[in-house]
Amino acid sequence: MQKLSELISHILQTHHVFTRESLNRIQGIINSPAMQGQVVSADIRQCIEALEEDLLPHLMKEEQILFPYIVKLEGNPRQNYAPDFGSIANPIRVMGNEHKSVIKLLVRLRELTSDYQIVTEDQSGLSPLFSILGELDRDLVTHIQLESIDLFPKARELEILAMTSGRS
Ligand SMILES: [Fe+2]
Ligand SMILES: [Fe+2]
Repeated sequence: MQKLSELISHILQTHHVFTRESLNRIQGIINSPAMQGQVVSADIRQCIEALEEDLLPHLMKEEQILFPYIVKLEGNPRQNYAPDFGSIANPIRVMGNEHKSVIKLLVRLRELTSDYQIVTEDQSGLSPLFSILGELDRDLVTHIQLESIDLFPKARELEILAMTSGRS
């Protein structure tokens, strides 16, 4: 089985870096002079804003609270860390709810952008924006699956094992 610390490194180096870079690039594109004459609908702008507002604190919570705990738990499963958040089930539940909000926003963005396709001529200037939004969408789906399906359930198992094997 792959070590959870390795999976976490992969998530951080691949997906967290990509998410932040993409959000920066999206802001850059939206604010670029080339976009001034383009009509980005208020709904699309709102969705992008909401995505950023959801994602940035989410990444930080994983990086500063949940992931370091999982790494410690895996490194020394018998240690009683007594984290402030109680059981790991609590932050996992919060992260899971935040993933659901992100997926909802992605579903809305897909609707608003016809799956990131340019469908009318007057949208042609939006191609760079739609393209990066599509890349971010695909990356987030993989990222969220890795956490919700692979990482979090195994981290929970690790904590249960630590509790039942008698902590020192
Ligand atoms: Fe993440
Ligand atoms: Fe996450």
